[in-house]
Amino acid sequence: MITITAATGRYGRLVVDGLLRRGVPANKIVAAVRNPEKAADLAAKGVQVREADYDRPETLKAAFAGADKLLLIPSADFAERYPQMVRAVEAAIDAGVGLVAYASFVNTDTSTLRLGEAHKLTEAFIRDSGLPYLMLRNGAYIEVYAGDLGGMDYALSTGTLIGSAGTGKISGVSRDDLAEAAAVALASKDQAGKVYELGGTAWTKADLAAAVSQLTGKPLVYQDLPVEAYVQALTGSGLPRFLAEVIADAGFATTRGDWYTDSTDLPRLLGRPSTPLIDVVAATLKRNRLL
Ligand SMILES: NC(=O)c1ccc[n+]([C@@H]2O[C@H](COP(=O)([O-])OP(=O)(O)OC[C@H]3O[C@@H](n4cnc5c(N)ncnc54)[C@H](OP(=O)(O)O)[C@@H]3O)[C@@H](O)[C@H]2O)c1
Repeated sequence: MITITAATGRYGRLVVDGLLRRGVPANKIVAAVRNPEKAADLAAKGVQVREADYDRPETLKAAFAGADKLLLIPSADFAERYPQMVRAVEAAIDAGVGLVAYASFVNTDTSTLRLGEAHKLTEAFIRDSGLPYLMLRNGAYIEVYAGDLGGMDYALSTGTLIGSAGTGKISGVSRDDLAEAAAVALASKDQAGKVYELGGTAWTKADLAAAVSQLTGKPLVYQDLPVEAYVQALTGSGLPRFLAEVIADAGFATTRGDWYTDSTDLPRLLGRPSTPLIDVVAATLKRNRLL
């Protein structure tokens, strides 16, 4: 049995689809989700749906029962991520799970990002748990940079994409590629102890602006700002200060190489090159009605 938590999220759904495409029988997949009502489409595919809410630990052990492999996908709740993952790993131990896979963060060992801290702690907790583990260290989602969280329409209206990433390189990846890589690893044998750094062909924020400009036919250039000026610009556009600081911190960490990896783990798992930046940007712009 392969159990996927947060399977009603975008990445989780793609992992389930990837497993089905690779021939894993639907009844051997468990979608362990916070809200089973949101998983009717997964149930219709024959996938077992069970309730698993990280904030309701009493749901977790039964949800993980029988799992040969369990993929833990953290929630986007930055402050709660680590305690949530601790509860999930404790439940995995109680349930006798065969292997815990964790959707982690690129360069977790060396990352200086505030966002990376919970992943570092979670990886350490999993290693110390004694359970066999598999780390899927996901690179940055290209979709987020290309405007899935908003902001690209404003950038296009001003002709300027702002940030604090300098000329740092980002080994960004599409969510689909990351999920496909996870499905390949989960469907493969002998994965215990593997740590995959999953990064795509690297690009800079200037490359991203050029790709958006090329696709839309509108001028767009990247303008680098000092961190505090970037925070001010983000709060000025309505973001809470805490979130603006996290985003600017993550941006500036690019200058230290935190979002870059020269690992070839991703194309090796996929058996092909990762999807090019321009294709993911095009799909994201279309989804957000900017193309
Ligand atoms: N590598 C990157 O650049 C990057 C970028 C963004 C996010 N991430 C990380 O990757 C994760 C998956 O990404 P995504 O695109 O799939 O995000 P998403 O679509 O927002 O999915 C997040 C999932 O977390 C679930 N969740 C939230 N609180 C939960 C709880 N208490 N118990 C159980 N499940 C809970 C949500 O459940 P519901 O469906 O019930 O809401 C949802 O299914 C994110 O949560 C974040 O940690 C990585």
